[in-house]
Amino acid sequence: MAEGQGTACSNGQRITDYSAFFNQETRLTQPAPIWRYVEQKNKTPVAGHISFDGGFPNSIQFPLLKATLTLSDGEEVEITPSEMKATLQYTKSKGMTKISEWVMELYKRVHNPPTMDGNGLPSSLDLILTCGGRWGVVQSLKMFVEDGGCFLAEEVIYQTLSPMYLPRNIRGIAIRSDKGGMDPVHLRQVLSEWDEGSQGRRPTLMYTVPTASNPTGLTLSEQRKKDIYKVCQEFNILILEDDPYYFLQNTLIPSFLSMDTDGRVIRADSFSKTLSPGCRLGILFGPKEIVDKMTIIQHPTTGGPSSLSQVIISKVVTTWGHDKFLSHMQNVASFYKERREKLLSYMDKYLTGLCEWSPAAGGMFQWVTLLGVDKSEPVVDRLMEREVFVMDGFIFSLDRASRPNIRLSYSRITDEQMEKGISILADVLKEIRGIK
Ligand SMILES: Cc1ncc(COP(=O)(O)O)c(C=O)c1O
Repeated sequence: MAEGQGTACSNGQRITDYSAFFNQETRLTQPAPIWRYVEQKNKTPVAGHISFDGGFPNSIQFPLLKATLTLSDGEEVEITPSEMKATLQYTKSKGMTKISEWVMELYKRVHNPPTMDGNGLPSSLDLILTCGGRWGVVQSLKMFVEDGGCFLAEEVIYQTLSPMYLPRNIRGIAIRSDKGGMDPVHLRQVLSEWDEGSQGRRPTLMYTVPTASNPTGLTLSEQRKKDIYKVCQEFNILILEDDPYYFLQNTLIPSFLSMDTDGRVIRADSFSKTLSPGCRLGILFGPKEIVDKMTIIQHPTTGGPSSLSQVIISKVVTTWGHDKFLSHMQNVASFYKERREKLLSYMDKYLTGLCEWSPAAGGMFQWVTLLGVDKSEPVVDRLMEREVFVMDGFIFSLDRASRPNIRLSYSRITDEQMEKGISILADVLKEIRGIK
């Protein structure tokens, strides 16, 4: 078997060694030499330290002493002087303890991963906090896929990824989708017909946005996930589950992580769509061996997410507790559902016969197929002339090829703007197609 290919069909066995999935660069990545001091220092009591090491600034010089955060329900929460001192200093690049523990508890409660306790195997689970969810996603692709290699994905994909993989000559292998999202039958067909002689190494990683996908708005049902997971077991594929819209659905469908008996799911998550994108706080959760590698990559690159952001998010969620966080998320999901229904009513009114769509199942995006045109660019240009801004379909194509689709975001737009924008879209399509 070729190096980096991953072991052959696992038949539902727990994966205990991920090195065959890592690409060459990841296999060669070692902890920064400075870690030796950190580990030794952690073994001795702080009182005995004489520290000439490290580049820690003296906290006497820090300009902030304390802060009071006022939550949207009026509750006030303090960041005390000692917390502030620790927050403004360098902290663990893997993420601060309190917020990491809170997330771990949330994951146990919501996803309850079957391999959580590890059963003594080396691949028990762990998490790392990242600078936004996208860093974890991009870095995961970089970690597993060799330059010139390939990965499996839906036909259209989160557009932030292509600036990473296209210059590396990495191909996204398109798996067909229907109204229920990625089609497991086509996934099995692509993998079973794979010819390494003409196509290169068979992919070992599948990327998916299973809930209210960006851009399609589609959500995989529990049965779809089970069917896809089964194919991934058969061909020993790791699943990169990028799920920032998970809480933006009204009924929480079990995640891939919740059915992961083999340790083949890496879950990327984010506080961006739930609490605040400005805090730039994401989560990467998965087998410990993978999280450990990610940690030694994060340390010399971003150094970890901002500790001020971590403390702000931590104060909010620990003040609320898991129950209140989950009920807040239900309110957020209902808010977006109401916005979506409004948009769909205007689409029915103005776009029937001009466009086709499957109503989004959650999240904040509606994917639209423009009828009678073969690409979105001329439509989007004319819309911009009339000060209506939508996302062009081609930016989501795996290879950036033009397509007759646009993505509409309904999260912030007012009812009045929605109706006006959709009626202008109808006018533009009629003009282009010469319909009176
Ligand atoms: C599919 C998908 N993944 C990940 C993210 C990550 O967002 P952030 O980096 O803000 O956490 C987004 C945000 O738009 C997204 O749509």
